[in-house]
Amino acid sequence: MSVVSLADVEAQARGIMSEAAWAFVAEGSGDGWTLGENRRAFNDFPIVPRRLRGVDGASVSLGVRLLGHDLPYPILVAPSGVHLFVHPTAEAATAGGAGRAGALYTASGASTLPLEAIAQATTGPKWFQSYVNSDTGVTRDILLRAKNAGYTAIVLTADALGPGMSDHFVRLGMPFPPGMTFGNNDPRDGGRGNFLDQRTALTLDDIGTIGSLTGLPVVVKGIMRGSDARDAVSAGAAAVQVSNHGGRQIDGVPASVSVLSEVVDAVGGSVPVLLDGGIRRGVDVFRALALGATAVATARPILFGAAVGGAAGVAAVLERLRDELHHTMLLAGTQAVGDISRGCLRGMAA
Ligand SMILES: Cc1cc2nc3c(=O)[nH]c(=O)nc-3n(C[C@H](O)[C@H](O)[C@H](O)COP(=O)(O)O)c2cc1C
Repeated sequence: MSVVSLADVEAQARGIMSEAAWAFVAEGSGDGWTLGENRRAFNDFPIVPRRLRGVDGASVSLGVRLLGHDLPYPILVAPSGVHLFVHPTAEAATAGGAGRAGALYTASGASTLPLEAIAQATTGPKWFQSYVNSDTGVTRDILLRAKNAGYTAIVLTADALGPGMSDHFVRLGMPFPPGMTFGNNDPRDGGRGNFLDQRTALTLDDIGTIGSLTGLPVVVKGIMRGSDARDAVSAGAAAVQVSNHGGRQIDGVPASVSVLSEVVDAVGGSVPVLLDGGIRRGVDVFRALALGATAVATARPILFGAAVGGAAGVAAVLERLRDELHHTMLLAGTQAVGDISRGCLRGMAA
C-alpha cells in the first residue's frame, strides 16, 4: 500500500469506518479544543533550515537509542484500546504492521486481544501500557504476564481516570463492537477481573511498585507540567511521555507540544522525554525532536492505517512518517537526529 500523506489515509478511513468507530477513534472529548490544539500548536514552531551544510541525503541517520533499544527511527506506536473497532484481527493487525515497519509498539491495557497474542504478532520491540485495577491482584497478574510475554517496559498512564469518549459516541449509546471483551481480563485467556473497575487514586508510589514488581523500566504517560515530570523521575520513572491522551480526556488543556520544552527543561536530560498528540507529518516529528523529545508516538494514524489496509496499512503509515522525517532532516540541514536542536526553530536558541 502506498501512502502520499497521512491525511489521505484518514480520509479513506472515514469512508470505511462505521459512524460508531469514527466517533470512538477520531473525535475528542468536550468541545474538541485540545484535539484541535494538538495539531495547530505545531505551527507555533516554524523550522528555519540551515543551508550548504553538506548533508548527504543517502546517509541521513534517523536512529535513536531509547531504554536499551536501538530504534531505526524515533517514531513509536502509542497505546490505544479496542482495535476491533478498526480491523477484524484487532491488535494483530496493528502490532503486525509495527513489526513490519520496525517500530516500537505499545500495547494498550484496554486491548481487544490478550497481551500474549499481541506480543506474538510483532517482530519489533514492545512495551505494555498498564491501567491500574481496583483489585491489586488483577493488576499484578497482568503486569507479570506482560513481563513474561517479553514486553521491555511498562507505560503507566496517569491521565485517564475515567472513560474518555466524545459526546458523539455517548449519544450513539457507546456502541462497542458486539461480543467484544477486554482481552487481558478474559478468563478464556487466563485473565480475570473487570477491566472497567479502575483505581483513580494513583500516586507517585505506583511508579516504584510497578518497577519493583516487574523489574522493568516505567514510562509515565500523560505528563503536562515540568514539576510532575521532575516528581515522576524522583519516584523512579525511566522516561516520561508528554501527552494529553490525544484530547480524549480533559478538554481545555494545552497541546502536548506546547508544554514539551517545559518538561524537557525540568528533567534536564536525566531521562528520555517522549511526546504524543497530533503527529501527522515528518515536520511535526522534527519539531518535537528539536524541542528536546527523544522520540514521538502516534495513535490515530495507526488506527486509520489498519482500517484501510490492515497490517500493510499500518506499516505504510509508519514508513511514510519516517520518510517524511528523513526528507525534513535533509532539507533542514541536519545529518543525524543528534543535530536537531532548538536552534532549528525560529527564534529559539540552540
Ligand atoms: C481510540 C483511542 C484509544 C486510546 N486508548 C488509549 C489507551 O488505552 N491507553 C493510553 O494510554 N492511551 C490511549 N489513547 C491515547 C494515545 O495513546 C495517545 O496519547 C493519543 O491518541 C496521541 O494522539 P494522536 O492520536 O493524535 O496521535 C487512545 C487514543 C485513541 C485515539
